[in-house]
Amino acid sequence: MPGPSSTSSRSTSTLSTSLRTHTCGELREEHVGQTVTLCGWVAKYRDHGGVVFIDLRDRYGLTQLVFDPDAGEKLSGDGLNAATHELARGLRGEDVVKVTGTVHARGEGLVNPKLSTGAIEMRASGLTVLNKAVTPPFEPGADQLPGEELRLKYRYLDLRRPALQKIMELRHRLSKVTRDYFDEHGFLEVETPILGRSTPEGARDYLVPSRVHPGEFYALPQSPQLYKQILMVGGTDRYFQIARCFRDEDLRSDRQPEFSQIDIEMSFVGREDVLNAIDGLIAAFSTELLGKEISLPLPRLTHAEALDRFGSDKPDTRFGLELKDISDVAAACEFGVFNKTTASGGKVRGLCAPDAAAKYSRKDLDGLTAFVGEWGARGLAWFRVIEEDGAVKLQAPTAKFFTAEQQTQIIERLSAKPGDLLLFVADKPSVVNAALANLRNRLGKELELYDPAELAALWVLEFPLVTRNEEENRWEAEHHPFCAVHPDDEEKLKSDPGAVRAESYDLVCNGYEAASGSVRIHDPGVQQAVFDLIGMDAEEAERRFGFLLDALKYGAPPHAGIALGLDRWVMILAQLDNIRDVIAFPKTQKAADLMTGAPGEVDGKQLEELHIRTVAPPK
Ligand code: AMO
Ligand code: AMP
Repeated sequence: MPGPSSTSSRSTSTLSTSLRTHTCGELREEHVGQTVTLCGWVAKYRDHGGVVFIDLRDRYGLTQLVFDPDAGEKLSGDGLNAATHELARGLRGEDVVKVTGTVHARGEGLVNPKLSTGAIEMRASGLTVLNKAVTPPFEPGADQLPGEELRLKYRYLDLRRPALQKIMELRHRLSKVTRDYFDEHGFLEVETPILGRSTPEGARDYLVPSRVHPGEFYALPQSPQLYKQILMVGGTDRYFQIARCFRDEDLRSDRQPEFSQIDIEMSFVGREDVLNAIDGLIAAFSTELLGKEISLPLPRLTHAEALDRFGSDKPDTRFGLELKDISDVAAACEFGVFNKTTASGGKVRGLCAPDAAAKYSRKDLDGLTAFVGEWGARGLAWFRVIEEDGAVKLQAPTAKFFTAEQQTQIIERLSAKPGDLLLFVADKPSVVNAALANLRNRLGKELELYDPAELAALWVLEFPLVTRNEEENRWEAEHHPFCAVHPDDEEKLKSDPGAVRAESYDLVCNGYEAASGSVRIHDPGVQQAVFDLIGMDAEEAERRFGFLLDALKYGAPPHAGIALGLDRWVMILAQLDNIRDVIAFPKTQKAADLMTGAPGEVDGKQLEELHIRTVAPPK
């Protein structure tokens, strides 16, 4: 775990803790000779012919304790009486104890450099068992951990794991850096309601029935979007909040039903001001949490460029492996899959996996073909680049469909060299991009093309304002319907909505969408034009967002904002790929809390008071 600021193992707090003199991460050689008292959990227990060794654990670290029955004779002042020794022999994993003893330097060759307290041990003389533990279903200190389900059920045991303790500390530090940063720049942290009206982020709402308004419901906020815009109308000028958000959507490894945003809104600003403000925050994350300087401004790509070069609007730019288009060569070649695709308006694009020709067997390539199939690709055309008789050419069963000249064109287009592996997908552009972007991420990892500790953050700008919902045959807001229209595209709103860019921006880091925001519409007329475009007539707009439209009429300043996924940032900084690992009490993929059993049934009386009758089938 990174973090120069992870210094709390040697807390400088002057608050007293009446049961102990030091923490389990605190003792060093300078304490040798002192009599100290530690409290904690029994992490490891070994009995070496009567001498009991215990690793004592708390949030700050581990300290080795020695209960030596002969110590009284060997070392003056360290007397361990027989009763205390017997008590120590009865200790078991996760018992909670208080131990008094003297700090000794460890003998020659016994120093443990991996442990912050590895230079010393404590020779115990006194022991109080503060609480016995029943045999735990797993040991938080074990090398082999049980499955996640068991760890979520006994989350309090899992939380004792040093790795999780470190993540909780990193999360706390990240919130602290955030609050300090915005405070320094004149932002106010304002709390917005949890019980509110449905918000516009487009996922399903979590609803809360009202007792006093029969048949009516609050919605838990999917984000504080509308409130923060109204705060700008209210003159708050610079707002931020570490806000809890709730979305009832399909969960993935980077999504939770309740999660935290670092939510920001600013008045009298344009896009550049927001981007600069967030650049500064990311630099603060990097220096304060990783101890690494990053250069600013963060790189930028337009949405169109990101799709063109990486096939994705959230590219992992820790490595290259960019996509190249060979549709022109494909149109002219004899390979039916390629020329038919281009004839029907599709594209053929691919990537060059460096030095991978020998690494992927035919069976592995079948595996990659099945993998791209998950994103709708009907196949994966592959070629090994070889050198034969002084010529660099393609080798594959399908290579015969390409003339020598076409092969050279492809090799040059992909800047390939002998030993490389070329992989192509032919399909409509959306399938080609999705398949290759995911293949790119997989190859980047498999071929170890990047340093996992690197932080590669970049801005993706100018997303389309709307996307087509083919099923429902209508336009939908790409982000949410409050994004300002790119000034150069206003006249296309009616004639060519699909080509209109929003004044929006995403911050992408290591392949994750790590923040998202936009300049907002502050003119009620433009706001209604965008509602019209997405098929929301004035009546519906009034019903759903009337309070915002009203507010915009009373002198709304130009404003813009953004929200960062706090959990995702902790995940990225800790180099983890599961969001559940950075949340103290996370929910499963089915939105259940395995420890408390939430969601659960409630009594009939509660339902009655809330005017609710369920139609759920009996369990
Ligand atoms: P958006 O919906 O893109 O924008 O959310 C902003 C950021 O929040 C994080 N995020 C999530 N993290 C964990 N679990 C989830 N289910 C989840 N959903 C989103 C992502 C995302 O980039 N109101 C706008 C922001 C704005 O325009 O200012 C909004 O909520 O990192
Ligand atoms: P086929 O002619 O279907 O046997 O396919 C020959 C090769 O082309 C196989 O390696 C397929 O995986 C590949 N292939 C088939 N369809 C596509 C496609 N749409 N894009 C890329 N490669 C394809």
